[in-house]
Amino acid sequence: MSQNNPDSWDPVRYLKYAGQRVRPALDLLARIPLENAHTITDLGCGPGNVVEHLSVRFPGARITGVDNSAEMLNQAKSNHGDTADWVQADVAGWSPKEPQDMIYSNAALHWLDHHEGVFSRLAGFVKPGGVLAVQMPNQFAEPSHALMRQVAEHGPWAETLKPLLREAPVAEPGRYYDWLAPLCDSVDIWQTAYMQVMEGDDPVLDWISSTALAPLRDALAPDQRGPFRDAVGAELRRAYPKRVDGKTLFAFRRLFIVAIKGTVKG
Ligand SMILES: C[S@@+](CC[C@H](N)C(=O)[O-])C[C@H]1O[C@@H](n2cnc3c(N)ncnc32)[C@H](O)[C@@H]1O
Repeated sequence: MSQNNPDSWDPVRYLKYAGQRVRPALDLLARIPLENAHTITDLGCGPGNVVEHLSVRFPGARITGVDNSAEMLNQAKSNHGDTADWVQADVAGWSPKEPQDMIYSNAALHWLDHHEGVFSRLAGFVKPGGVLAVQMPNQFAEPSHALMRQVAEHGPWAETLKPLLREAPVAEPGRYYDWLAPLCDSVDIWQTAYMQVMEGDDPVLDWISSTALAPLRDALAPDQRGPFRDAVGAELRRAYPKRVDGKTLFAFRRLFIVAIKGTVKG
């Protein structure tokens, strides 16, 4: 099951932090040992900016970008139209027409629940000699997301928002190893916290406004949206004070998985 609200994605707001958002995508790409790939799918491709990097690393590959947000896909088509085939589908029920040399996903699969089933299924779509490569934010327990949930659970919006609050979507790293090791020949997992240097006032609120906060905000009546956002902002300002130079450090944890099936061919 997916917890993504496809209508809550705004590509322009999302791309405001394009540099910081693409960095883990490139770090993931750097650890993929394939020299050639003919078929690649980018799951949760969003506005298509990572597809562009995939096409540079694997020239000639047939790339498919899958996303269930029409807004995101429209942006992908208008900015990177010829780079990939674009498919509107929910990853939870998606399957490729043929097994892929690489299934790649940056910052998308944490929107899905029941990861054991999701990851086993995706590994099944990878060809022998191919790779499943995934990066997911692992920010659920960190102040940015924990405080947002805390504010959602209290106040006049609680009744509307409580049913939308999720269990932690990303499991302990070892669980992914246990799920993938029987299906793949090598499983490389690592975690990193990026100490993101953010400018301006309320940068953490601004960052989550285009991702985790969006489905909650959109579920509220228009007159509750501002007060809810302000209440979250006040908590975040306390948790992420400005540093000596007026900038804000926003620690952001991400989990990476590169699972290889069989022996990788060059
Ligand atoms: C944070 S954006 C990442 C976009 C892109 N991969 C990148 O690295 O910039 C997450 C994307 O995943 C998509 N998404 C989330 N859940 C999805 C699902 N169940 N099926 C398809 N796409 C999904 C969203 O629509 C959104 O475009």
